Amino acid sequence: MGYILAIDQGTTSSRAILFNEKMRIISTAQEEFRQIYPASGLVEHDPADIWSTVAGTCREAIERAEISASEVAAIGIANQRETAIIWDRRTGRPIHNAIVWQDRRTADTCARLRDEGHEGFISSNTGLILDPYFSATKIAWLLDHVEGAREKANAGHLAFGTVDTYLIWRLTGGRAHVTDATNAARTMLYNIRKGEWDEDICALLDIPVSLLPEVKDCADDFGMTRADLFSREIPIFGVAGDQQAATVGQACFEPGMIKSTYGTGCFALLNTGDKLVQSQHRMLSTIAYQLNGTPTYALEGSIFIAGAVVQWLRDGLKVIRHASETNALANTADKEQTLYLVPAFTGLGAPYWDAESRGAIYGLTRNSGPAEFARAALQSVGYQTRDLLDAMHADWGSQDSANILRVDGGMSANDWTMQFLADILGLPVDRPKVVETTALGVAWLAGSRAGLYPGLTEFSEAWAVDMQFKPNMEAEVREKLYGGWKDAVSRTLGAIG
Ligand code: G3P
Repeated sequence: MGYILAIDQGTTSSRAILFNEKMRIISTAQEEFRQIYPASGLVEHDPADIWSTVAGTCREAIERAEISASEVAAIGIANQRETAIIWDRRTGRPIHNAIVWQDRRTADTCARLRDEGHEGFISSNTGLILDPYFSATKIAWLLDHVEGAREKANAGHLAFGTVDTYLIWRLTGGRAHVTDATNAARTMLYNIRKGEWDEDICALLDIPVSLLPEVKDCADDFGMTRADLFSREIPIFGVAGDQQAATVGQACFEPGMIKSTYGTGCFALLNTGDKLVQSQHRMLSTIAYQLNGTPTYALEGSIFIAGAVVQWLRDGLKVIRHASETNALANTADKEQTLYLVPAFTGLGAPYWDAESRGAIYGLTRNSGPAEFARAALQSVGYQTRDLLDAMHADWGSQDSANILRVDGGMSANDWTMQFLADILGLPVDRPKVVETTALGVAWLAGSRAGLYPGLTEFSEAWAVDMQFKPNMEAEVREKLYGGWKDAVSRTLGAIG
């Protein structure tokens, strides 16, 4: 029984990664699934797709490793956060598609709550900004818009879950309705100071507390899988939201340590230890992880477009065929030109939180071409990360920070972008040996609970850097470039496309 099965259920694909007793990856399986866009700004997933791709990739990873399911000691789950699913406890059937974190349908509700003066207490209790990004207003929307939902909810027939909770419900055959503290912290219904569901916010949104799952630590007993799924019952011992799982996988266990994950978007988390820091600079306060009943807090900055800017170069502008071409293209860009691309394709996230702005490009000349566009696109990732780190350091104090940024996610493989990131931050950027940090984090949570993996200190000591990018730009150049970016953003804010 020497293996841990990590499930990484993301926004566009589900993955299963099998780790051996030395925490090394021995097999992986991945399957993309359908994105449903019912109208502009709306994003849904079919929970049946989420489930079938998870179950399928788990079986495939086990088969590829040529082991027996009976050798899997425990399962860990990392998941796309905030996405809301409600189902009927009696049948297990969802009452609607999952409403995905990117979905903006409840913008008006959030604006109304803000106008009515509720933002202060919601932010203070949950650490979040009143925004459609989080689950709470999505849940209220489902109860209000699905016929008969409110009556069934009041009668106790419905259950809500983020994706972890739904998967556990399915994996255990409806025996467990549970989540972990990091996922609960993203619902905007969880009081992260008290560590309990916030009855005042639930009452404000008319959400019965009975709809919500039991909240556990990240390394805990989340239930046993149905015996017929993997030929025997397997315990689920680890759960964390994907960005929090990556924070664990990056071994950011000391206050001041920061990780940044570059997928479609970018999510940076700074460990603030046992201090819940209420941001004065539009960052989120959240739970980084919770072990032995004790939460460790974090400041988080979320950027909506990072790797997606490379997809835009490929699929929108068609100036590259593969993401890997951007390195070489950016290198050939004209050094005399300074272009700024503000990728506000779906508005801007932290620290601006401007849903209305749209993308813009500044500094075009007659000589601007694909190479200059590619360089500006890659640079936008560096500039946006600098925005986050500056805001976090203003809240937390850079003198107390590790002064190194740990990176992971698909775009961290792009050397040009990582070097520019180090240059524009004026900080070293560390890329770890194991870049599958999300899966590693949740595998470690499950494996340590199963007694297979070492404790936190040993895990942290084993964490190793593969490549360090050192800053190599004069301070004057850096500040001039960054000043130009701030100017470009200020011209873009509020601009409607
Ligand atoms: O908050 C949303 C985040 O958890 C999504 O992550 O990797 O699925 O895009 P990802």
